[in-house]
This record gives sequence, structure tokens and C-alpha cells, in this order.
Amino acid sequence: MKFLIVSGNPKKDGLCRRITDAISEGAREGGAEVHEVNANCISLCHVCGDGWGTCLREHKCAFGDDGFDALQDAVRNADAVAMITPVYWGETAEGIKAFCDRFRRCENFLMGNKGALSGKNILLVASPGGSGRGGLTALSQMERFCEHTGAVVFDYIITNRWNNDYKGETARTAAKAMAQGRKNGETI
Ligand SMILES: Cc1cc2nc3c(=O)[nH]c(=O)nc-3n(C[C@H](O)[C@H](O)[C@H](O)COP(=O)(O)O)c2cc1C
Repeated sequence: MKFLIVSGNPKKDGLCRRITDAISEGAREGGAEVHEVNANCISLCHVCGDGWGTCLREHKCAFGDDGFDALQDAVRNADAVAMITPVYWGETAEGIKAFCDRFRRCENFLMGNKGALSGKNILLVASPGGSGRGGLTALSQMERFCEHTGAVVFDYIITNRWNNDYKGETARTAAKAMAQGRKNGETI
């Protein structure tokens, strides 16, 4: 099982890094091969043509060589995914916004396309490291992305300065369960 972590974290340490490491550790414990990618390298959607570009029919971004193609391929190759964002301005971070905007266009369900995330388990993590506010909005934005792409939300985690010890443990255990093949909807 290939477990992909898509991160919007620009930092080398801190809350996001800690919970990302916990997820990585848990997924490995569950037997997964773990791969981490960062969405901060890509630009905003260029909004080609009248609103759709090559994303509509070719399921490929015309500007994908900025790093987006590699992100799309990584998701295509993954069996399960975790998406992690620091909370900025009460929302997902800019890199995650850009990724979600572009990915859902390319992996749309139109023209008979199945979508690279369709049916795959995803763990959503938001880290409001300041006031602690905005985690719900960020999770809600990511949940809408899952509705558009057919991803199946395995769990939602908010980690902040005063809960990251036990939320880290939750994230580790969630990733381990996903790596072992547990599905949303199963009764344990
Ligand atoms: C531009 C900006 C906006 C931020 N907005 C919020 C916010 O709305 N709520 C919050 O709790 N923290 C906010 N923060 C703090 C970040 O959430 C925090 O740095 C990050 O989520 C996670 O912590 P880490 O940097 O230790 O990984 C903001 C930080 C930046 C740089």
C-alpha cells in the first residue's frame, strides 16, 4: 500500500511537521510505503479559456510543469492519502488552496473520467497554531474538495499548541489503521 502525504507546510519544524512525522510513522507501522509531497511549489490556477482548459478533457493542466504534474502523478499512484494544512487566516494555506483548485479541475468526473482520488481514503488535518481558530473552516474547505474528487474522508483532525501531544497520537494511529486497510464505514 502506498500512502501519500500532501502538505501545505512551509516550515521544517513546528506543529505541522510533528503531526506529519506522526502520520508517516503510523503509516509505516501499518506496512505502507510513505511518500510526502509539498504543494507550496505550485502557482494558482490560470483559469484558461472560458473557464476550462486542457483540464476538462485531457485531465491535465496546461501549466503542470510548475510541479503540479508531479503532485497529480503522486496522487494517482497512491492508495491512501493524508492532506495537511497550516491554518492561515482561518482557512487552508495557499499551496493547499492552489492544489485543490487545480486538482479537482483535472480529476473531474466529466467526460466519463473516474478521478484519481475517487474511492480513496483520505485523512484531513488542519493545524491552527496561533489562536487555535479556523481549523473547522479549513477542514470544511478540504471536505468540499473531497466531495468534488470522490475522496472518502477517513477522519478529520485539528491539532493546536495545547493538544498536539494527544492529537499526534491520534494521527499516528489513524494512519496506521488506514495503512492496514481499514475503511470508512467499517465497524471495529
Ligand atoms: C499568514 C498566517 C496566518 C495565520 N492565521 C492563523 C489563524 O487564523 N488561526 C490560527 O490559529 N493560527 C494562524 N496562524 C498560525 C499558523 O496556523 C501556524 O503557524 C501553523 O498552523 C501551524 O503551526 P506550525 O507553524 O508550528 O506548524 C497563521 C500564520 C500565518 C503565517
